[in-house]
Amino acid sequence: TGCITYDESYGNTGSCQSRITFIDGEKGILRYRGIPIEELAEGSTFVQAAYLIIFGKLPTETERLRFSGLLTKYQMIHEDMKFHFEGFPSSAHPMAILSAMINAAGCFLPELNTEYDAERFEIQAAHLLSQVRTLAAYAFRKSRGLPSIYPKKKYMFTENFLHMMFSEPDEDYELDPAVVDALDLIFLLHADHEQNCSTATVRMVASSKANLFASASAGVCALWGPLHGGANQAVIEMLKEIRADKDDGTLFLDKVKHKNHGAKLMGFGHRVYKNYDPRARIIKRKCDELLSKMGISDPLLDIAKKLEETALNDPYFIERRLYPNVDFYSGIIMRAIGIPTEMFTVIFAIGRMPGWIANYREVAEAGDSRIYRPRQIYQGPSLNHYVPLFER
Ligand code: CMC
Repeated sequence: TGCITYDESYGNTGSCQSRITFIDGEKGILRYRGIPIEELAEGSTFVQAAYLIIFGKLPTETERLRFSGLLTKYQMIHEDMKFHFEGFPSSAHPMAILSAMINAAGCFLPELNTEYDAERFEIQAAHLLSQVRTLAAYAFRKSRGLPSIYPKKKYMFTENFLHMMFSEPDEDYELDPAVVDALDLIFLLHADHEQNCSTATVRMVASSKANLFASASAGVCALWGPLHGGANQAVIEMLKEIRADKDDGTLFLDKVKHKNHGAKLMGFGHRVYKNYDPRARIIKRKCDELLSKMGISDPLLDIAKKLEETALNDPYFIERRLYPNVDFYSGIIMRAIGIPTEMFTVIFAIGRMPGWIANYREVAEAGDSRIYRPRQIYQGPSLNHYVPLFER
């Protein structure tokens, strides 16, 4: 096949040059624009990390205020979008709704739904980042047959999301700072992760010069799968199943090790991290902290801890260098907050939006870059001839 190099599933292909996120999988290092994830988790909010990822530097107080102001200004979606929500059956998965509605939101913003424009990019980014959160909350309310709740100007990014999810028309949801802080951390830890499946998808779509909304909508679709963002939902389903089987995880791990019907320990393993996922360490600590603060004891957390301990000492997992990833404990936090399982991947999508926006921008700004166009190793027949229908 000439000069084409076969690299199954792009395991060893550097598909682009990027200045956004650095990962060292052997050492378990993750940095946004050079800043270690541990420092950001300790000191930054999600919105400040989003600014850092999208614009390349931490915002000054003036920049932070301006950007937060834009997020508040553009948080409402067009009222006519309600008709779109009404068209979905209540059984629709919120990720399907989210992806469709991001594209629809772009249609309601024709002046922004255009080719990349450096001058208007901050406004475009603020629209998308802010509205995806409104759309996500509306998708959830729709799935429960509940009236949608408008965002409020007085709330910060994550507070507003919780408000739109859980308030009632006549009674505001009581915001607990520990809950807000935990969810904000989940958003921050998901904010970017170099060339994962969904970000690579966003870059692929962006490389055809599709607009930001179309590119981000494609990212949501790629994220949905259980091997990627859908893993956080799959982890909780797996833990529930183990509990329903009255197993402490031992029988389940046996199935995994024997690859029984392709069983996998969801929330374990990573294409890049081969020693540990630094996000998992941070999130596990937060999980313990939040649950004890809320006075919750979740039997699924006990199963998760037992699974982790057993797996980390088992030759199957040791030989394959499989460790818990970010999704292993995030679902337990979300359950404690009251976020339903089918919304977990949507939370991931809200969090990943800064990464998608920044990667879109990188592709768009490299004005002379070529459209992404991988090749293949063709395995079909070399030549066949057309046979008329009556002769087949
Ligand atoms: N449970 C059991 N075995 C596993 C697991 C797992 N979670 N992950 C990988 N393996 C095995 C795999 O079967 C293979 O075994 P063998 O050598 O006998 O064929 C070996 O480990 C190497 O795995 P791989 O499939 O080549 O690894 P990959 O880099 O293609 O896949 C992964 C990475 C994350 C898709 C995979 O580890 C997985 O499916 N994990 C479970 C799903 C999950 O938690 N996904 C979230 C990833 S982190 C958040 C995100 O990026 O979205």
